[in-house]
This record gives sequence, C-alpha cells and structure tokens, in this order.
Amino acid sequence: MARLNVAVLISGRGSNLQALIDGCAASGFPAQIGLVISNTPDAAGLDRAQKAGIATHEVNHRDYSDREDFETALNQALTGAGIEFICLAGFMRLLTPGFVNRWKDRLINIHPSLLPAYKGLDTHTRVLADGVRFTGCTVHFVRAEMDHGPIIVQAAVPVHADDDEARLAARVLAAEHQCYPLALRMIADGRVSIADEIITIRGIDSPDTVLINPIIDC
Ligand code: GAR
Repeated sequence: MARLNVAVLISGRGSNLQALIDGCAASGFPAQIGLVISNTPDAAGLDRAQKAGIATHEVNHRDYSDREDFETALNQALTGAGIEFICLAGFMRLLTPGFVNRWKDRLINIHPSLLPAYKGLDTHTRVLADGVRFTGCTVHFVRAEMDHGPIIVQAAVPVHADDDEARLAARVLAAEHQCYPLALRMIADGRVSIADEIITIRGIDSPDTVLINPIIDC
C-alpha cells in the first residue's frame, strides 16, 4: 500500500522531526516524510532532514508582508511536493483559520503539556509554579483555536521534587518522541476517526495502570 506522504513543519532543533524520521524508517511504517519546511533559515532540524536525504524548503516568515502571503508560499511548497498530511513539530508560527481549515483533519501538532491544560508557551515554567504532580505531552489535530483540537495520544509524565525547567523539559521531550511516531502510525494505518471532535482509534489497548506521584513504601 502507498505510504502517506507527510510534511513536517519546524522552527528549530527538530528533535521531534528526528523521532518521526526514525519512526518512518521502521520496516512497514505506513508514512514517509516527503518534505521538511522551516520558517527559520538556520533551524537545526534542516540538517537532520538533509542527513536523512529528505527534501527541505525554507519559507522565512520575515520575507512576507502578511500571514496569508506566507501561507500561500507554504501551500505552494506542500502541494508541489504532493504532500497529503502535515505534522507540526516545534513550528512556532500561528496558522490562520484559512490554512487550518484547508488542511482540516490532515494537520496535527505536538504540544508539551496534557492539553487542555497549559496551552501556549512556557508550559514547564507554569507547571513547576503550580506544583502539579503530573504533566505530559499531547498529539492533537489542529483547529483554528491555538493548542486545541481532537486529542490522539497523550503521555503523562511525573514532575519530580527537584525538577528545574530543563530536567522536566527533557523528561517530557522523551515522551514526545514516543508519542509522535505512534500517533502518525495510527493515523496512516487508517485506525483513527473523528466524530463530534472526539477521536476513536480502532484496534488499540489502553493501560489500566494508575500512576501516583509521589510514592513511598508503605
Ligand atoms: C517541543 O517540546 C514541542 O512540543 C514544542 O516545541 C518543542 C520543539 O522541540 N512545541 C510547542 O510548544 C508548540 N506549541 P523540537 O524542535 O526538538 O521538536
């Protein structure tokens, strides 16, 4: 069966892009990355794509007078490469409702919190300030409202007493790298359906485990 032709949109480091590259390299993986687009010319993720032999494209938002023109250039690159599906992976530009609706149900994002909690930036700083015991990450379909949309996969990540932002971010990022290829696999396998903005996934298991944090021997 033909593999789903995916574009990954990045703005920086590209560690989630790398997780997707590695996931797609697995035998029988139902998706391939046909194009990586960055809105910043010096994004480290572009090197990762080039090393993997994936076509790259820069659409520098600073070169465009408004968001519509920027997104027209994005769409030209995407359609020119025959892209069927988009993964946002640390893509730090807000997309207009026009773009989001054009790619509705073919556009997903990863966010470093357990949505709908902690939308927006600086999630780990706010998690630490609130003293919550769990945070996590979420892969979701993109809707016009920021960090909102049907949830595909989440991972719960414990917050440790001695965490600082960097330690917590690294623990969440490791979970992101597991969740993103998993979500893409399930979608490209055709297991995922959306009804009334709630997702159903065929042929999956959910763990019964209850996670408690913190714990003591008792
Ligand atoms: C990731 O933690 C991702 O969840 C976050 O940016 C980081 C990108 O890292 N995305 C957002 O905050 C989007 N709202 P990466 O470039 O190494 O994948």
